[in-house]
Amino acid sequence: MLFRQQHHHLTVFAPAKVNLFLKILGKRTDGFHELESVMVTLGLYDTLEFRDDPSGNLTLECRDTAGGLASAPTPRPPLVLSSGPDNLVLRAAVLLREYAKVNRGAAITLAKRIPLAAGLAGGSSDAAATLVGLNRLWNLGLSLNELHALAAKLGSDVNFFLSPTGAAICRGRGEQIEPIQLPRPLHLVVVKPPSGLSTALVFRHCQPTQVGLSAEEFLDALRKGRHPLGDWWHNTLQAPAMELNPDIRRVARAFSRQPVLGHLMSGSGTSYFGVCAHRRQAMSVAGRLRAERLGEVFVVGSRV
Ligand code: C5P
Repeated sequence: MLFRQQHHHLTVFAPAKVNLFLKILGKRTDGFHELESVMVTLGLYDTLEFRDDPSGNLTLECRDTAGGLASAPTPRPPLVLSSGPDNLVLRAAVLLREYAKVNRGAAITLAKRIPLAAGLAGGSSDAAATLVGLNRLWNLGLSLNELHALAAKLGSDVNFFLSPTGAAICRGRGEQIEPIQLPRPLHLVVVKPPSGLSTALVFRHCQPTQVGLSAEEFLDALRKGRHPLGDWWHNTLQAPAMELNPDIRRVARAFSRQPVLGHLMSGSGTSYFGVCAHRRQAMSVAGRLRAERLGEVFVVGSRV
């Protein structure tokens, strides 16, 4: 998360994430799944601007990447970004205001670059940026622990974006964060097929697994620079997501023809990424994948 502060006005850059590793361990009695994941932030950002509003009103205006209003046709139909009270930005602002027992207002603008329903956690990152941004703008002085407690109420991925480093092992339902350092930035190509997937639907169709690598073993392999093409790229949600959405299988097949170090679906999909040896290779892989017209293609580095 990056900041630019002026008087009465704060800009926050909220990054996307990918899951380099995601293992679903079991189903819990509260309906969520116990998991173990390695998440890393990317150099792909939504931009949020917060202006103090002394009248006490909380308002949100969303713009898509093309600069149009969210209510106008977007380049990514049929997924439409809501700027109503269900948007996680407004939910985070209301939650923060209630918790801090203040009657402050803000005019918030959200410029959306992170694709929706993509497994890149754009909405969760926007929510975390709102908690941190308004805590600063309104001088509330809430501690990081207090922000974490609010983040967990908003969604399982929100806490990760409060991590002081750009990478973490996430446990529990995703909200328990162990910040980590990766040895070097990763060069990724991310493909977002035109269709999206509901996170809840993918989780409902997944089969938990106890076999295979742990997150620690995965990290050990990554730190030692081992890059076998095989099994250590794992996401338990990938098989059910592919059953639900054939676009993902097409993208996976396309990546398997590319000279990448590994490839995997992120989160509950539908985004899919390949890890490249260096940026030059990422650019050429992206060029070939663009020619296959599989969806939006991004060349991005991890931010660690
Ligand atoms: O926490 P979040 O709102 O992102 O989760 C969306 C949905 O994904 C949940 O309602 C739940 O159905 C599913 N989920 C899950 N186990 C998790 C995280 C999410 O089953 N650890």
